[in-house]
Amino acid sequence: MLNLKHDVRNIARQFRIHGEFLNAETYGSGHINDTYVATFQNSDVRKRYILQRINHNIFKNPVALMENIERVTTHLGKKIESNPDKIRRVLTLILTHDGKSFYRDENGNYWRVYIFIENARTFDAVESPRQALEAARAFGNFQKLLADLPAPRLHDTIPDFHHTPKRFAALEKTIETDAVNRAHLAKAEIVFALKHKTICNALLDAKLPERVTHNDTKFNNVMLDDATGEGICVIDLDTVMPGLGLYDFGDMVRTTTSPAKEDERDLSKVAMQFPMFEALARGYLESANFLTKAEKQFLTFSGKLITFEIGVRFLTDFLAGDTYFKVHRDGHNLDRCRTQFKLVESIERQEEQMNKLVEAIS
Ligand SMILES: Nc1ncnc2c1ncn2[C@@H]1O[C@H](COP(=O)(O)OP(=O)(O)O)[C@@H](O)[C@H]1O
Ligand SMILES: [Mg+2]
Repeated sequence: MLNLKHDVRNIARQFRIHGEFLNAETYGSGHINDTYVATFQNSDVRKRYILQRINHNIFKNPVALMENIERVTTHLGKKIESNPDKIRRVLTLILTHDGKSFYRDENGNYWRVYIFIENARTFDAVESPRQALEAARAFGNFQKLLADLPAPRLHDTIPDFHHTPKRFAALEKTIETDAVNRAHLAKAEIVFALKHKTICNALLDAKLPERVTHNDTKFNNVMLDDATGEGICVIDLDTVMPGLGLYDFGDMVRTTTSPAKEDERDLSKVAMQFPMFEALARGYLESANFLTKAEKQFLTFSGKLITFEIGVRFLTDFLAGDTYFKVHRDGHNLDRCRTQFKLVESIERQEEQMNKLVEAIS
């Protein structure tokens, strides 16, 4: 407690938390925000809360971001009002004493507080198709419950987040400039990227409906119930904004179907595992029952496209001198790009089979 980077006790005091502060510690393995768990005692009841400092280097407009989160969690809460387990099935914001969803401290940091979801946990790596299915079902359900979010449109907190053609244009510019003279180190990856330019526009050209999407559908952003393994709550709502439903599904395919880490150097470990894809498709299609025929047709493709897009972003950052993604070794972003492109190849080899499966179960 004494060694914490922030004065968590004082921050917690700004929010409507009842009882006496007992302790706080850093929590979780998230890479973006600073997350703490704080425990309070109220007569004979102990309660835990999640306190998070929003990373305002990445999220430039924390006020708009919190407005999105407040609207989304309120809407979800109303949708499951009668569920006795509601408190574990939707993130519940604790407001500040003056009724705001965040507190800005004297250093300009933005803080928010959620009720801690007990008897559930996140996993950094998916361990079984059952888990993949649970996560996909939870993300699909999240989109479904938000399909009737009343106007206005949510804020675009990161404009053009999944605008693949713009991401690709940024790559082309970086290749041309070659500011830090690295293009010769990534010849094969550049060739691969250029060869795939034709796929960049497909989702945008398909004129699919805009939806409320999560935009960070990594497996460790779903809490699984300790007892049943059910995906009970979608967390990490910083990137909730308008988008295509398939961006979320595509990113699940990217982050869940290969057993290798995103920066794995042994590319023989990178592969799209069919049973994982099948689990994702089944889970998502089961809950996302609002999908149009066109969306379903692009389900497999979205996995390929989003994986390609992130690969393009890693390659761009490598060529630009590592200015966006944190790197911990030489060539780190190039390694990351390679795993993504390898996964794209693996998907391409199985694309026909994947499409057949989607058709059969949808
Ligand atoms: N309301 C909550 N209840 C319990 N654990 C939570 C809650 N919110 C977040 N966590 C835990 O904290 C971790 C980091 O939170 P997250 O919002 O995903 O931050 P990041 O953006 O840094 O990934 C999660 O992986 C999860 O394990
Ligand atoms: Mg997270």
